[in-house]
Amino acid sequence: MHESEYIAGQTFFGRSDPAELLARFGSPLYVYNESILRRRCQDMLRIIDYPRFVASYSIKANSNLHLLKIIREEGLSADAMSPGEIVVLEQAGFRPEQIFFVPNNVSADELRFAAERQILTSLDSLDQLELMGKILPGSRVAIRINPGIGAGHHEKVVTAGERTKFGISGAQLFQAGRVAERYGLRIVGINQHIGSLFMEPEPYLRAAAYLLDQVERFPDLELVDLGGGFGIPHRKLSGEQRLDLRDLNKKLTRLIRAFTDRHGRDLLFKSEPGRYVVAECGVLLGTVHAVKETGQTIYAGTDLGFNVLARPILYDSWHDIRIYRDGRYLDDSETKPVTVVGNICESGDIIAADRPLPDLEANDVVVVLDTGAYGYAMSSNYNNRLRPAEVLIRLDGEPVLIRRRETYEDLLRYF
Ligand code: LLP
Repeated sequence: MHESEYIAGQTFFGRSDPAELLARFGSPLYVYNESILRRRCQDMLRIIDYPRFVASYSIKANSNLHLLKIIREEGLSADAMSPGEIVVLEQAGFRPEQIFFVPNNVSADELRFAAERQILTSLDSLDQLELMGKILPGSRVAIRINPGIGAGHHEKVVTAGERTKFGISGAQLFQAGRVAERYGLRIVGINQHIGSLFMEPEPYLRAAAYLLDQVERFPDLELVDLGGGFGIPHRKLSGEQRLDLRDLNKKLTRLIRAFTDRHGRDLLFKSEPGRYVVAECGVLLGTVHAVKETGQTIYAGTDLGFNVLARPILYDSWHDIRIYRDGRYLDDSETKPVTVVGNICESGDIIAADRPLPDLEANDVVVVLDTGAYGYAMSSNYNNRLRPAEVLIRLDGEPVLIRRRETYEDLLRYF
């Protein structure tokens, strides 16, 4: 059985264990490991050997302020999707030139919000480019191009190609140039994002080549952002292999060097990883409250509703699960299919369907792996459930609270 490198030997939880953490901070609980976070940041800084390359963390995956500070310390810059993300980035100490605003369908006020802070914005339709021209003529801008190639773990997260709301297509680029000219906008950046979670580098490389082919259209260009989407193996317990970053590096570096040799242009290259940076440094802990057998199905009823982790119900996503009881992980050599469900009033509230798991009982701790990305970030108060706390296992192994659990007062705050 292939074990997650982080769970083996319990190094993930430092000086604590999952049960202690729940007793101290409450259940459910998101737990992050600082050492893994830092390691994943370094991986992303090395995907291209080129002096002017920077990885720009896409904070929609996880915008906990304390994690953002660590990511900044590691030398990443950041991309933001909304003014709210910009606010958190400023608070985490990112400077305007380290922030790239890559929104979709924003208002004039939201464009002004970024411009007032000297933050470069990418416009992703002719209409948005026109709006920018009208309200802030003469600005420096970027545009998001749809390279016609998409990728992703589910059709809902493929963000380029034929069917997507994102980007300006190749056929519209000439018009984009005309709009920019009309308002004196200087297009200093082009970017793309083909989708979320690829495990083979080919679509990313083809899209990168496409983007580089467009550079000549833009005489003022300073930066090219190739996008994110780098996958992590979500089925580690069944031996799924990692994305081969060395292979990706070799191919991307070759592509970029061939481009710079050909054109001699000194551009800044960026990528926009979200999931890769934070997914594996996070686990979600929960508690079994009831086990029941109905017809053919064994249900393990937990406090992990889809208000806490929405990915399974939204995309049928798989997260590896381990069970912790009496100071150890249960041996999973003898298993039965168990459907792990939450406490939300919908039958679709399922974290894992018919999952081979050991015999469960009340008070077992459920450890849901690789939930650092799009976990807490997509949590909600549905059924007036409280969002959980977040804890960081520091480099010295000590757990620290990095976001408190919500309270009932929080639920009443806005009325
Ligand atoms: N850049 C842009 C413009 C994006 O829209 C995204 C993600 C990223 C970068 C980062 O992509 P990543 O490296 O994380 O794949 N909630 C979904 C994923 C949605 C991704 C949306 N855009 C999930 O849980 O799988």
